Amino acid sequence: MNKFLIFVVFAALALLAACGSESQDAAEVETDRDSLNTALSADELLYLEASEKLIARFTKALQTELMSAMNQGGPVNAIGVCQVKAPGVAQANSAGGWSIRRVTDRFRNPDNRVDTLEAAILASFADTGSTAPEYLFDWFEGDSLRTFRFYKPIAVKPLCLKCHGGLQTLAPGVYQKLKKSYPLDRAIEYKAGDLRGMFVVEALWPEGKEQAGLLVNDLISDQPSDSAAPPDSTVSVDSQPVDQ
Ligand code: HEC
Repeated sequence: MNKFLIFVVFAALALLAACGSESQDAAEVETDRDSLNTALSADELLYLEASEKLIARFTKALQTELMSAMNQGGPVNAIGVCQVKAPGVAQANSAGGWSIRRVTDRFRNPDNRVDTLEAAILASFADTGSTAPEYLFDWFEGDSLRTFRFYKPIAVKPLCLKCHGGLQTLAPGVYQKLKKSYPLDRAIEYKAGDLRGMFVVEALWPEGKEQAGLLVNDLISDQPSDSAAPPDSTVSVDSQPVDQ
């Protein structure tokens, strides 16, 4: 807990001051700011804890999908399952004003590419040694919505090298399959311990408070793996053969 940096976006406060009615004097604006800040810091810990819980749930669900696909048909089969299931697992874990995704500078799926701000945050996780933060978060104000954003690095483990390693460590057939499914793939040549990317959790405030409480208290029932894809999704393992 001691190794995080905080950057709070003050745009909201500037906005509050700018949009305040003209009759509102400086003292009133100050009071508004004080009460807003108090409410925020009271909820900040809740949101931090809920973010960690959401990442743990998401990781577990993804790993369950990955391991069962690997056991059933090896890494080449698992690529197809990852391709179809990973977005569904992210969506199944996004509810109640909360969302989760994975982003990276060396992407496999271009949908997971970092934007400019995320690239800067990811770079700060790349610092080696004790200076790298465990996680980062900020508050973002836009379209009259206030959003909490939480970032946590993803490290490469030995298991990941079967599909993200160098040409020598990729499982047989994986490279050919990847080239077919992801012609722009840049997510190989990693080594164990490398920074692979980061989780980005976003949560509305205060609208996401109820969901935060559910997450923190483990009150969200586990999705059976078959329903990880959203019910209205046109993409499912059945409708999209893995060797497509
Ligand atoms: C069976 C092959 C396979 C294994 C093993 C595997 N991945 Fe992946 N990984 C994929 C595929 C396929 C995608 C693209 C999913 C998509 O289309 O959304 C992906 C995407 C990702 C992404 C999203 C960013 C991007 O590049 O699109 C991250 C992060 C990631 N993997 C991390 C890991 C980590 C960490 C491990 C080890 C714990 C791992 N992967 C193991 C196949 C694999």
